[in-house]
Amino acid sequence: MIPLDRILVSGALLLSLQIAQATEGRTVFTQGGQNPAAMACIGCHGADGMGMAAAGFPRLAGLPAGYLSKQLADFRSGSRKNPIMEPLAKALSDSEIQSVSAALAAMPTPKTPVVRRQQMASSPDEKLALYGDWSRGIPGCVQCHGPGGLGVGEHFPPLVHQPASYLVAQLNAWRDGTRSNDTNQLMVGVAKALNDEEVKAVADYFANRIGQEGTQ
Ligand code: HEC
Ligand code: HEC
Repeated sequence: MIPLDRILVSGALLLSLQIAQATEGRTVFTQGGQNPAAMACIGCHGADGMGMAAAGFPRLAGLPAGYLSKQLADFRSGSRKNPIMEPLAKALSDSEIQSVSAALAAMPTPKTPVVRRQQMASSPDEKLALYGDWSRGIPGCVQCHGPGGLGVGEHFPPLVHQPASYLVAQLNAWRDGTRSNDTNQLMVGVAKALNDEEVKAVADYFANRIGQEGTQ
C-alpha cells in the first residue's frame, strides 16, 4: 500500500505542476515564449483570442488543445505552410506548445449560435454545408465538424466564429497543397471538390451564422 503522506505529496506536486503550466501558457499568450522569435499570440490573435477578422487571423480561444498543439507541430514540420506561423512554432518549446494550447482551450468563447434543424436548410450554401453533394462525393461539412459547425472532440475544429477570409484561405491551402496536414486526408478531397464560388459560399455561411440566427 502507498502511504497516505506519499499520496498527499504527489497530489500537491501535481497541483503545483498544473499551476506552473497554466502560468506558462498565459505568459506565452500575453508576452511570448522564452525565445524572442516566439512572439506574443495576442498581437495577432487578439486579447480575447478571438482572432482579427479584418486581417484574416484565426480565432484560437476555445479550440481543442489537441487540435491546437497538432497545428503548431504541423507548422514546425512544414505539413502546414505559413510564413508567419512556421518560424513562430519552431521558436516555441515543446512545453510552451503544450501549455499555451491548454490555456487557449480553456479561454471563454462567445455564445454559440443556435443549431438549426437540418430540415430547415433554406439556401443552396446552407444545403451544401449541411448535406454536401453526394453526386460529386462531397459530404456535408457538419457531418465531421458537428451540428452548426461547432466542432467535435479534439480532431474536428469548430468553423463558427472564424473569419470568412481565414476559412477561404484554409480551403484554398488544401486545394493548392500548402496545407497537407489532415489526418487520413479527410479535408483535401472535400476542398478539391469545391469550386471557387462554393468555397466562398460555405466560408460565408459558417462565418456569418452568428447574429443571423440569434444566440443561445
Ligand atoms: C504576427 C502574427 C501572429 C502571431 C504573433 C501569432 N500568430 Fe498564430 N497565426 C497567424 C496567422 C496569419 C495564422 C493563419 C495561418 C494560415 O493561414 O495557415 C495563424 C494560425 C495559427 C494557428 C492555427 C489555428 C487554426 O484554427 O488552425 C495556431 C494554433 C496559432 N496560430 C497559434 C499561435 C500561438 C500559440 C501564438 C503565440 C505563441 C501565435 N499563433 C502568434 C498569425 C500570428
Ligand atoms: C470527412 C470529415 C470532414 C468533412 C466532411 C469536412 N471536414 Fe473540414 N476538417 C476535417 C478535419 C479532420 C480537419 C482538421 C485537419 C487538421 O488536423 O488540421 C478539418 C479542418 C477544416 C478547416 C480548418 C479549420 C481551422 O481552424 O484551420 C476548415 C476551414 C474546414 N475543415 C472546412 C470544411 C468545410 C467548409 C467542409 C464542408 C464543405 C468540411 N470542412 C468538411 C474533416 C472534415
